[in-house]
Amino acid sequence: MATSKYKHIKLNANGSLGANASEAVSALNSHFNPDDFFVTNSEDEMDVWLRQVNLNDLSEAVGRVSQEYGNEAAMSEILRAVESVKSYGINGSKRLYVGYNSERKVVDRKLKEQRRGKHYYANDHDFAKPSGALPPEFADRIVCGDSETVLKRLPDNCIDLVFTSPPYNFGLGYQESDDAHDWEAYFSKLFSVFDECIRVLKYGGRIIVNVQPLFSDYIPSHHIISNYFMKKRLIWKGEILWEKNNYNCKYTAWGSWKSPSSPYLKYTWEFVEVFCKGNLKKQGKSADADIDADSFKNWVTAKWSIAPERRMREFDHPAMFPEELARRVMLLFSFRNDIILDPFAGVGTTCVAARRNNRRYLGIDIAPEYCATAERRLDGVSG
Ligand SMILES: C[S@@+](CC[C@H](N)C(=O)[O-])C[C@H]1O[C@@H](n2cnc3c(N)ncnc32)[C@H](O)[C@@H]1O
Repeated sequence: MATSKYKHIKLNANGSLGANASEAVSALNSHFNPDDFFVTNSEDEMDVWLRQVNLNDLSEAVGRVSQEYGNEAAMSEILRAVESVKSYGINGSKRLYVGYNSERKVVDRKLKEQRRGKHYYANDHDFAKPSGALPPEFADRIVCGDSETVLKRLPDNCIDLVFTSPPYNFGLGYQESDDAHDWEAYFSKLFSVFDECIRVLKYGGRIIVNVQPLFSDYIPSHHIISNYFMKKRLIWKGEILWEKNNYNCKYTAWGSWKSPSSPYLKYTWEFVEVFCKGNLKKQGKSADADIDADSFKNWVTAKWSIAPERRMREFDHPAMFPEELARRVMLLFSFRNDIILDPFAGVGTTCVAARRNNRRYLGIDIAPEYCATAERRLDGVSG
């Protein structure tokens, strides 16, 4: 047996194997291809040899063998040991425990990483580390006004996470602000607000922006905004694709039909850019991390399929994001009781998600009508 091609787990059965251990182990083995998985047993020890396995199949087989041979403790121990292996790749429905990264192996990875240097664009920053306190009059509040002006009243380093979708300059009919500026004026105003967001963000805090570029104007807003944050020495943590499964234009908008002269690209997703101030790691008590294991596993795969908000008419706002998007961002990137800021709060989706998920919040919007709707929505949510 070429054992080198398997991952080996040694288990002490502590007397739980039972009289018919060998029969039970053979029965379990009969469910699997020995090239993928098998167990051997001796007096009071079991050895698990693992290359790849479908966990559901293993769980079912373990259940059947336990029932038939009555040695549940030993069988559960095998399942628990396999489930607790942290390092694996995915191969169809199976977890692949051996050889999954052999093609990607880089010789002297650490040394090469050191030589390249990480996030070189962000290293020369002068962000202060001490946190400030959010003044009580801003805690759990919706404030109506221009964000840049309102944020100037906040001390440095008092916010844990900024999550927002700015006005996109699409020409939407917002209540109080014009949504069709000359692009340079638009970015200049947006960046004045972002400068304040960066200032009020704590060291190690995150600023996360949902952006949809205006493809028809050929303006890559997500790149322009990301470049701005990098220029301001924030660290790019990554990009989430929010898959909405709907087109950003008419299905028949092809551009140059059947000709390479100028085909029009269509997108069914939006971008969510994630940046960190000063440090990729965020301070927080582990008891305040409230994301469960399955959500964590699913959401770090950074393509999130979430239906667009369907209640825009009900709330009389033309560009809401769904609460689920805000919930995932908060659970993955902030701790319970953290302070969440949305400087373009609209009808308060971020704040509603924050309250529902035991975070504190500050939402700012320029339109009194949207602020009133946000207050009404928040009244119906227990914190
Ligand atoms: C894309 S919407 C945000 C919608 C929000 N995510 C929701 O789900 O309700 C952008 C918002 O920015 C607001 N806004 C535009 N300029 C602003 C400014 N200077 N200060 C504060 N809010 C502003 C608009 O009124 C609009 O509600």
